[in-house]
Amino acid sequence: MKEIQNVLVVGGGMMGKNIAFVMTASPAIRVTVTDITAQDIHGEIARNCRLLVAHQVITEEELNQRLGRIFFTTDIDSEQVKRADLVIEAVYEDMAVKQETFAKLETLCFPEAIFCTNTSVMSPSRISENLKYRQRFVGTHFWNPAHLIPLVEVVKTDATSDETAETVMQLLTSVGKKAILCQKDVPGFVANRMQHALWREAISIVENGIADAQTVDEAVKFSFGLRLGQLGPLENADMVGLDLTYSIHDYILPHLEASGRPSPVLEELRAHGHLGFKTGKGFKSWTPGQMQAVRDSLNTYLIKALYDK
Ligand SMILES: NC(=O)c1ccc[n+]([C@@H]2O[C@H](COP(=O)([O-])OP(=O)(O)OC[C@H]3O[C@@H](n4cnc5c(N)ncnc54)[C@H](O)[C@@H]3O)[C@@H](O)[C@H]2O)c1
Repeated sequence: MKEIQNVLVVGGGMMGKNIAFVMTASPAIRVTVTDITAQDIHGEIARNCRLLVAHQVITEEELNQRLGRIFFTTDIDSEQVKRADLVIEAVYEDMAVKQETFAKLETLCFPEAIFCTNTSVMSPSRISENLKYRQRFVGTHFWNPAHLIPLVEVVKTDATSDETAETVMQLLTSVGKKAILCQKDVPGFVANRMQHALWREAISIVENGIADAQTVDEAVKFSFGLRLGQLGPLENADMVGLDLTYSIHDYILPHLEASGRPSPVLEELRAHGHLGFKTGKGFKSWTPGQMQAVRDSLNTYLIKALYDK
């Protein structure tokens, strides 16, 4: 594997900060974060990591050592940017901004530097379509919160070389991530295709008056949601038997939601300005205290599940 020592994160927002922290899990790696606006990189990472320290997943000393290997600049022309062995882009989810960012980076970085995009839904092939060295470009879809969720989807474009994908997979593994390879650049990659198939059905159940939002969430949390961390859907299909799985699908699939459009319920909530946590009302109503409690309990749950702490 090509030795990666200097990682550049472009875009020091919510994802970029946590990705920067993740990459410092290897003591050999120094990370430069660049953004168009000044960012409190160290302060925010420290705040995001407070539960990791409180649950003794990392020590305060280790956190400080890792923060000491993260540098910040608003100057994209700086030497630290030019020295990058690997770039992870986490700027706004905007095709033009991403394409312009990589066009600029291509004029600054070594031709052999690896370029990764953290886009959640856009095509890495399209983001890289105008670049000169497309074989060194790959999608790396981290999940939020990136310092806790292990998965990173490594997405090959129509031009990504096997060597690039392999190097990135190995690097992510070396910093403790669960890297999976998505062989085709398709919308939703692997995990979001499944996640949003579930969300579509969940919303459809509410839309059709089968159950309310609270009940839908409870149905997941108190049944197959409990199993999913331990037993994937295909393992589960094998466990119950593929003959049974076939019979169930033969009977039930014609009745499941198959709309290719967002639900009218979603459209209506959105039109009325009910955007969920952003406005305090979505499928359910939320007070500021309830929202914070959900965030805290999710992070505590993830730490317990991942580290048994
Ligand atoms: N938020 C999520 O849950 C999530 C999950 C996975 C992937 N992503 C993807 O990660 C990327 C970043 O998302 P985010 O939630 O961190 O957004 P964010 O708005 O918090 O951060 C984006 C940052 O990029 C900076 N920026 C914008 N243009 C720039 C440029 N030309 N050069 C340098 N910096 C620039 C902004 O100043 C901002 O700090 C997006 O592509 C998003 O789709 C987000």
